[in-house]
Amino acid sequence: MEVKLFKGYGWKRCISAQDRAPRRCHIKKGFILLLTLTFLLSAIIYFSDFSLKTTVPPGTFYKNVVNQIRSYYMVIKFPSGRDNQTIFLAHAPKADQQVQQRTTHISTQTTDISVHYHVAHPSNYHYILDEPDKCQQNPFLVLMVPVAPHQLEARNAIRSTWGNESTVQGKAVMTLFLVGLTGGSDSEKAQQQLEEESRQHRDLVQSNFVDSYFNLTIKTMVIMDWLATRCPQANFSMKVDSDMYLNMDNLMTLLLAPNTPRQNYITGVVMRDRSVIRNKNSKWYVSEELYPEPKYPTYLLGMAYVFSNDLPEKIVEASKEVKAFNIEDAYVGACLKHLGIAPSSPPVPSQFRVYMGQYNREGFLRVITTILGSPQQLIDIWKDVKSST
Ligand SMILES: *[C@@H]1O[C@H](CO)[C@@H](O)[C@H](O)[C@H]1NC(C)=O
Ligand SMILES: *[C@@H]1O[C@H](CO)[C@@H](O)[C@H](O)[C@H]1NC(C)=O
Ligand SMILES: *[C@@H]1O[C@H](CO)[C@@H](O)[C@H](O)[C@H]1NC(C)=O
Ligand SMILES: *[C@@H]1O[C@H](CO)[C@@H](O)[C@H](O)[C@H]1NC(C)=O
Repeated sequence: MEVKLFKGYGWKRCISAQDRAPRRCHIKKGFILLLTLTFLLSAIIYFSDFSLKTTVPPGTFYKNVVNQIRSYYMVIKFPSGRDNQTIFLAHAPKADQQVQQRTTHISTQTTDISVHYHVAHPSNYHYILDEPDKCQQNPFLVLMVPVAPHQLEARNAIRSTWGNESTVQGKAVMTLFLVGLTGGSDSEKAQQQLEEESRQHRDLVQSNFVDSYFNLTIKTMVIMDWLATRCPQANFSMKVDSDMYLNMDNLMTLLLAPNTPRQNYITGVVMRDRSVIRNKNSKWYVSEELYPEPKYPTYLLGMAYVFSNDLPEKIVEASKEVKAFNIEDAYVGACLKHLGIAPSSPPVPSQFRVYMGQYNREGFLRVITTILGSPQQLIDIWKDVKSST
């Protein structure tokens, strides 16, 4: 059994050539060695089922060391029958209440081991509604729409507009909706309605996490998991919010352009150098506990981003090592950074628009996507855009 140590975020970056974090790189070798030894010792104690609290008297120094250790990951590689398996044990700082860890028991031929993945890692959840055979049609492009269970009107507007396009420029396209658990007092009735809707349209995927704004990162990672496990053969996929206008023809032209990379490609509205919001009253507040750096890595605005379909599997894999926080688009950016994949600007950046202002048909014929005000607006605009073409 080979045991490797590294810090999930911070130290590891020092060894990467692209990214220099000088502050952290100044840690002296001796200190790292000491830390490694301390960690190994703790790991041994941990696995021997001893309680640290009973073997070491509590004290400030002890607490500091334990907190240091807790923010480190331990990676254990062990050969199994067919291929090497990597198990990540992610120990979150104790104060970090919001990133809850779930425990999964994985049996292998040789070892029984507890695995703690980050809360956003899709292996923590399972599908309640699924469409595992949907991709037998070998779609070129899959549109994945995160939506709340109660947003039936938004789903129906999409079903009657861009979600109803099954072939664009000769390429197969598919739209699926991703929801979490129904909540509230009549959650059972809501679940029955959802199941009826699923039977009718066969386009719902439901996973068993609490569906909330705070949990959008989980929703996005479940989308990535679905694409990676149910639809690896698709060429491209897109995460697109339920309040978006989508011009399928322009999107397809972008994806079929000879210059568009087939791999490691992701594009949308590129967000650079964004500061993390530390105002607790903000919807986008993120604690330093969850994300310590003052700025986010470059990411794509969550409203709509399109990517080559090799990425979902890579992002899911990266999410084992990238600590989760509640800003889904920035979190995908953090996973991409971890993978060394840079988001691309679209060939025509103005085709990904946050706001379009006053409706004008010419504008909507040119864009790929933009935010709309309501499901009815999507239906109205769609009718008008399609009317005389
Ligand atoms: C498993 O790991 C060993 C040592 O790291 C390596 O030599 C071997 O090629 C790996 N096997 C597979 C199937 O990846
Ligand atoms: C989808 O388009 C087809 C024609 O291609 C049409 O018959 C059908 O009614 C449309 N579905 C919805 C929900 O609008
Ligand atoms: C997020 O989802 C997890 C898993 O379902 C749940 O335990 C947690 O309460 C949710 N958090 C919020 C704020 O909705
Ligand atoms: C889509 O991907 C398949 C492999 O999954 C490939 O054979 C095909 O050429 C790709 N199509 C286009 C248009 O790139």
